[in-house]
Amino acid sequence: MIHTLEWVDGGVRFIDQTKLPTEECYVTCKTYEQVAEAIRTMIVRGAPAIGVAAAMGIAVGVRDSKAENVGELKRELDHVCEVIGATRPTAVNLFWAIRRMQEKFERIRIRPLAQIKQELIEEAQRMHAEDIAANQAMGRHGATLMPNSGGVLTHCNAGALATAGYGTALGVIRAAVEAGKKIHVYADETRPFLQGSRLTAWELMKDGIPTTVISDNMAGAIMKQGKIGAIVVGADRIAANGDVANKIGTYTVAVLAKENGIPFYVAAPMSTIDLACPDGSSIPIEQRRAEEVTHIGGKQMTPDGVSIENPAFDVTPAKYVGAIVTERGIARAPYPESLRKLAVSDAKVEV
Ligand code: MRU
Repeated sequence: MIHTLEWVDGGVRFIDQTKLPTEECYVTCKTYEQVAEAIRTMIVRGAPAIGVAAAMGIAVGVRDSKAENVGELKRELDHVCEVIGATRPTAVNLFWAIRRMQEKFERIRIRPLAQIKQELIEEAQRMHAEDIAANQAMGRHGATLMPNSGGVLTHCNAGALATAGYGTALGVIRAAVEAGKKIHVYADETRPFLQGSRLTAWELMKDGIPTTVISDNMAGAIMKQGKIGAIVVGADRIAANGDVANKIGTYTVAVLAKENGIPFYVAAPMSTIDLACPDGSSIPIEQRRAEEVTHIGGKQMTPDGVSIENPAFDVTPAKYVGAIVTERGIARAPYPESLRKLAVSDAKVEV
């Protein structure tokens, strides 16, 4: 089991994803500012992992508060939430986690300060456990969509490293393999940050799941050669109409999938579905540093002064999405109805 992040006595311990796959090392963030920085610099990344990290960062901030009454504690909580909420704009799990911690605080604010702090720590730990359980449930649903054998393509890393454990898209693949399906994963390298070649390949190899890394521009040709039976990716935010924001390049993969008659699936927990966003045009897209594009492994790849764009995500219109797999079941088009139905269903995932 990969320990992406966990609550430890001193704070929150992360596997440092900027160092993988060549170094497996861990960092412990002892303050909420350090947790915010770990999210910003992508020591921890992936929508569900960002959400759990945010909750744990808030728990650290509240634990360390010197507030002497609940009013002061609330002001400090709001400040911590603001700092953590300013780290990465696209993954809605971040804001979902912040809201859940704030709502928990409101429910328990009449209790003694020490108890409030303890209960917020427990809430963050509960979110960690729930995320793993949700991924396992998602895996059970999604495995039924996977081919019995052959190639499955994925983009970015939507695995254990992007979640508290097990993964969303890779959770679906793991569950299919556990059910006896003979799947060979094709992992897009996912420029510019290389989550596919560095992270997806690393964790699948650890599990002994056959994996081939391809550069992003090979995906179309590999599909045309008939090597891919299905595609499964994660999501950072899913709008009410089923438009999906995910790692830059996902849109290209989805269009190529349609052209080649290959089913394109998205696996994501309910915490990634944002019914307040009517469609993909209202999803904020994070722009990241030019250096992620201009340099690879510290080596400059572009001439000085050239103009650079680095949107970290794109939006895949719902018409390309064959199904959205959640812990509560599988949604299909028309998504405005199917997603709303899942959202109001009171299905709980056993932790
Ligand atoms: O920039 P990242 O690495 O945080 O982007 C991650 C992705 O786009 C993932 O596909 C998404 O968060 C789903 S992770 C289960």
